[in-house]
Amino acid sequence: MIYLGIKIFFCTCDGQIGALPTTDFGEDTEFIVREKACTPEGIGEVKAAAAQGPVVLAGCSPMVAERFFGNLPIEYVNVREQVVFAGHPLDKAVDLIRGTVAKARATLAPVLREMPVAAKSAMIIGGGIAGMEAASRISAAGFPVTLVEKAPVLGGIVGKLDRLYPEGTPGSHTVYHYVNRVTADPNITVFTNAELESMGGQVGDYGAKLKVSSSSVGDCDACGKCAEVCPITVDDYGIERKAIFYGGFGSYVVDAAACNECGECMKVCENVKIGAFEEKEIKAGAAVVATGLKPFDATAIKEYGYGVYPGVMNSIEFERRVTAGLIKPDKVVIIACAGSRDRNYLEYCSQVCCLICLKEAKLIKDVNPDAEVWVDYIDMRCYGVFENFYTAVREKAGVNFMAGRPSQVLQREDGKLVVRAENILLGSSVEVVADTVVLSVGFVPETELLGKLGITANEQTGFPTYLTDSSLFADSNPKGIVLAGAGAYPKAAVEAAREARSAANSVVNVLMADSVQVENAVTQINADICASLNCQLCVSACPYGAISLNGEDKIVVAEERCMGCGICNGTCGAGANQLEGQSERELLAAITETVREGDVLALLCRWSAYPAADLAGWSKTAYPANTKIMRIPCTGRVTGGMVEQALASGAKGVLVAGCYPDACHFCVGNFKAKNRLGLVGKYLDQMGLPGALRLEWVGTKESGKLTEILNEMAGRM
Ligand code: FES
Repeated sequence: MIYLGIKIFFCTCDGQIGALPTTDFGEDTEFIVREKACTPEGIGEVKAAAAQGPVVLAGCSPMVAERFFGNLPIEYVNVREQVVFAGHPLDKAVDLIRGTVAKARATLAPVLREMPVAAKSAMIIGGGIAGMEAASRISAAGFPVTLVEKAPVLGGIVGKLDRLYPEGTPGSHTVYHYVNRVTADPNITVFTNAELESMGGQVGDYGAKLKVSSSSVGDCDACGKCAEVCPITVDDYGIERKAIFYGGFGSYVVDAAACNECGECMKVCENVKIGAFEEKEIKAGAAVVATGLKPFDATAIKEYGYGVYPGVMNSIEFERRVTAGLIKPDKVVIIACAGSRDRNYLEYCSQVCCLICLKEAKLIKDVNPDAEVWVDYIDMRCYGVFENFYTAVREKAGVNFMAGRPSQVLQREDGKLVVRAENILLGSSVEVVADTVVLSVGFVPETELLGKLGITANEQTGFPTYLTDSSLFADSNPKGIVLAGAGAYPKAAVEAAREARSAANSVVNVLMADSVQVENAVTQINADICASLNCQLCVSACPYGAISLNGEDKIVVAEERCMGCGICNGTCGAGANQLEGQSERELLAAITETVREGDVLALLCRWSAYPAADLAGWSKTAYPANTKIMRIPCTGRVTGGMVEQALASGAKGVLVAGCYPDACHFCVGNFKAKNRLGLVGKYLDQMGLPGALRLEWVGTKESGKLTEILNEMAGRM
């Protein structure tokens, strides 16, 4: 459906903008002048008009105006910052309004997407500190919670540890408190030995299939006979136990993943029941993913002999063995960053391992004050207040720090370990003999589960795409599935708990609502056009996994996952993907009407270069009046067709400017733009139009850089 009858509100911004040379924008338009559209009356009037049909609001920058009108489908024309403040004639504003009106004419009726919250309950995946904290908070808000934990007991990695850094708070204090709270809560259903098989549906109405072990231990007097007869031995982070073992809280538990179902335990205790895994279906309006992390497998670092020499262990194993009294070494070498920040193993810093290695150094001195400890490090990264902890451990007698990554760990015939390293501060080779070598390894996430939930992971780290700035704006993607705790990225237990509280708030917000609205524009697929090419490139192009093939080989968009970046639009060779408000049809119409002979069209990313253009206006930094600026969601949205249309309309150059590499709001849009527009640029070179297209990275504050580029483009052509 094409909208007719476009209302153009022309706001003078309280007299800052003068009269236009013409107010004739076509018979289907109504031109309304207002002194100040941002008064309560003005806002009400514009909102009422936008509820009935297309509205163009010409006045201040959309970066200012959007605060008054939220996500209403209003087309903005930036006359104040990018015409008046820039010192350009108001003829330019007329062109910009014409282009925007043409875009409004080509706009399809916006669709309001509301997803009813049918399931008023939550699911938490992961029963560590973060998962238990989130479960308690959501339950306290009055919503039923299902807590799903893969392991036989709650507690996660913290539950394996004796103490936490920096004060040495016993991990047991933390875990017991949490487990008691969660298991005593009638509003929380706990499934241990349980795994998520699949998850379907959408925010407000997710359906999960779980695989849950039916093995259980009933009334247990903790006599331990079941474990005595169990033939299966499991290495549980450095401590051997049986497949049925004491799980704390006065009871033995079954490790269903390790159990071979031989039934020996049932012969000695009638309260033990060993059974197969069963499927359970759970409904949830929203979920928290708190799957935690696991230590990097150090067997990959061949030169350190992990898994070969019994005295070499990772930090979790070391802590468990020392505190269980299994070892009491006199001389310990701790290798910090073992395998971390290393292209061969883990390229990233796990953030917590330096602090863990300090904790282990302190632990061994607590247990054996005469012990000699060496910490071999490449950098000690003790962020924030933890610097004090570093200082305290460094000042302990018998704890020595040596800068340099060890090259090799060997075992002598007498069983002692030899650590070969270079002391880079002294510039000399060193060999340290030790009883025990502790590898302070980094941590890795549970990637398989992320895939089942449709959460995209960073290609290099495997952690969810989480630390990008888009997470400042959307607390989850898919909507209603919120990350919390160390599974999002490694962090201290206290930070995981804090994050869990915020995740719980997000979930409660969903569950309290009758429905959830999709606020951003969404891509729609024209099935007929798509079928004509059927390239399927958009499936892999979407950074959020929002596009997929259905069973009939048809491309479909999961609207609740779409973030409105338009990268798929830029990728689609057929033009079948159409982002609402930024479809190819709308943008081509806008370009055609906006661009005049000799102009430079600047397609500026709304997150970076567009604010820089506003800043140029505010700071009166000059750039040519024939620069026509259009705001785009991301450089990844720009197609060769848009460039071609601008040149065909008379533009002498096209600038596409956006976020710096790695800073794209949508993760990869600028990389896609670079590849795609690189080819377009080469084509234009061959066509005798060298330099007609430029792709540049411009930060929000880099108005000087932006205007320099625009002046260069104007002068060169
Ligand atoms: Fe700015 Fe992608 S969001 S280039």
